[in-house]
Amino acid sequence: MRDILDQLDTRRKQARLGGGQKRIDGQHQKGKLTARERIELLLDHGSFEEFDMFVQHRCVDFGMDKQEKPPGDGVVTGWGTVNGRKVFVFAKDFTVLGGSLSETHALKVQKIQDMALKMRAPVIGLFDSGGARIQEGVASLAGYADIFKRNVMASGVIPQISLIMGPCAGGDVYSPAMTDFIFMVRDTSYMYVTGPDVVKTVTNEIVTHEELGGASVHTTKSSISDGAFDNDVEALLQLRRLIDFLPANNMEGVPEWPTNDDPQRRDTSLDTLVPDNANQPYDMKELIRKIVDEGDFFELSEKHAGNIITGFGRIEGRTVGIVANQPMVLAGVLDSDASRKAARFVRFCDAFEIPIVTFVDVPGFLPGTAQEYGGLIKHGAKLLFAYSQCTVPLVTCITRKAFGGAYDVMASKHIGGDVNYAWPTAQIAVMGAKGAVEIIFRGQSPEEIEKRTKEYEQRFLSPFVAAERGYIDEVIMPHSTRPRIARALAMLRTKTVEQPWRKHDNMPL
Ligand code: HXC
Repeated sequence: MRDILDQLDTRRKQARLGGGQKRIDGQHQKGKLTARERIELLLDHGSFEEFDMFVQHRCVDFGMDKQEKPPGDGVVTGWGTVNGRKVFVFAKDFTVLGGSLSETHALKVQKIQDMALKMRAPVIGLFDSGGARIQEGVASLAGYADIFKRNVMASGVIPQISLIMGPCAGGDVYSPAMTDFIFMVRDTSYMYVTGPDVVKTVTNEIVTHEELGGASVHTTKSSISDGAFDNDVEALLQLRRLIDFLPANNMEGVPEWPTNDDPQRRDTSLDTLVPDNANQPYDMKELIRKIVDEGDFFELSEKHAGNIITGFGRIEGRTVGIVANQPMVLAGVLDSDASRKAARFVRFCDAFEIPIVTFVDVPGFLPGTAQEYGGLIKHGAKLLFAYSQCTVPLVTCITRKAFGGAYDVMASKHIGGDVNYAWPTAQIAVMGAKGAVEIIFRGQSPEEIEKRTKEYEQRFLSPFVAAERGYIDEVIMPHSTRPRIARALAMLRTKTVEQPWRKHDNMPL
């Protein structure tokens, strides 16, 4: 009996070594942790329950049947808790055949996806993989497709998060692309459909891994990644922080954490946040940090389309999604990138019943051929569509400019805003005074233009025309913004909206 028990111990020890000590050392030398070390850091201490530790590949081609078969087959899977909340996890083990995906490796991942969906709990993938196991050919492609299908089935039901922690190619970038959030580790992680060698062969282009698919590219230019962290440890700790904000599924509602931050807290410094000069920028993040509990704001896609801010905070301990124009970047204008970024975030919040708080200071949509040729109409429509479709509570606060179509789009009353506030500094109009007067009074003398501009400013550049019509529910003092939003959100907790039956909408993709 003792021998049998010892055998299990020996087999487990061997499985935990993955591709062997030499390859583990190699992983460490590259500044990366192993799959098991990553899971240890991600989950609460001692909470990991592993599945399929002894699974082996079944490949017989290219001499694979003659080689030693590493138990686990390149992926560590199971479940555990993050601050006591259940999550399912799979972590690619680069030490085993480069973490590449075989038929059996794919089945392990699928088992986790199925269990996560059945249990209605988030699924987290830690990626570090050479893509399809080349020796397995179509069996590997089939394995990926089965994973993709599950990604889609789970979309909008449970949060799916991908953390890219090494080189990732082919299927190991397409599956993350269908999840809700992708994060990367700077300097050690790369994402591309085909790597630099293939690029060189096909297009003659010579690029490095970083130039082709590093965090510096995907957090800025391509916007594939929602954020990047300096190393594995930092990335995993930040992932824990993100999970604390997220509901377990689309039915459970937002988590509620204890907080010592009084929802009635007023902040008089907000009364001077907006400068006297309407063209002078100010930092919208200062407002966000002063509104949310304990200043804790988890920003997404910070380095891409900085003219709009998206991220999670809490009010009264409950998660809210924050969308805000940022006057510090391009005056907070809405362009294609900003519209797409915010639209995707709004849809995530709506799918998972996360109320949205929107802060508005927007001079309009960005004019010009570059934007029009790039499809601004369709991209802007994405954000309009996403907000209009929301059934979650929408609380909006206009701090300064809300001009033109961008006023409508930014969670206005007309497209579904439940409680719409404005600060006394708000200017709600078709456009700024100068532009408006130059169109209406074209050809008039400079004195006349100046006089009319003043008239326009007095009549329209305030929140009161909109408030007179009920488009703004209340003009509020900046210092009372947190208590007003907290009260509105508390009132809106029972919001119920019926939608007409349809198979699905046809949003402007
Ligand atoms: C089998 C693989 C492998 C793969 C790596 N290995 N990728 N084995 N299939 N796809 C093995 C290597 O043989 C090596 O084994 C070990 O993993 C480590 O790989 P190295 O190349 O030594 O590591 P490194 O120099 O860090 O380079 C990592 C890499 C490179 C950039 C990922 O290995 C690479 O380019 N791999 C191929 C990537 C690729 O083109 N994949 C197919 C994508 S197509 P030993 O025994 O020496 O440790 C795809 C199709 C699905 O995924 C598409 C669905 C839409």
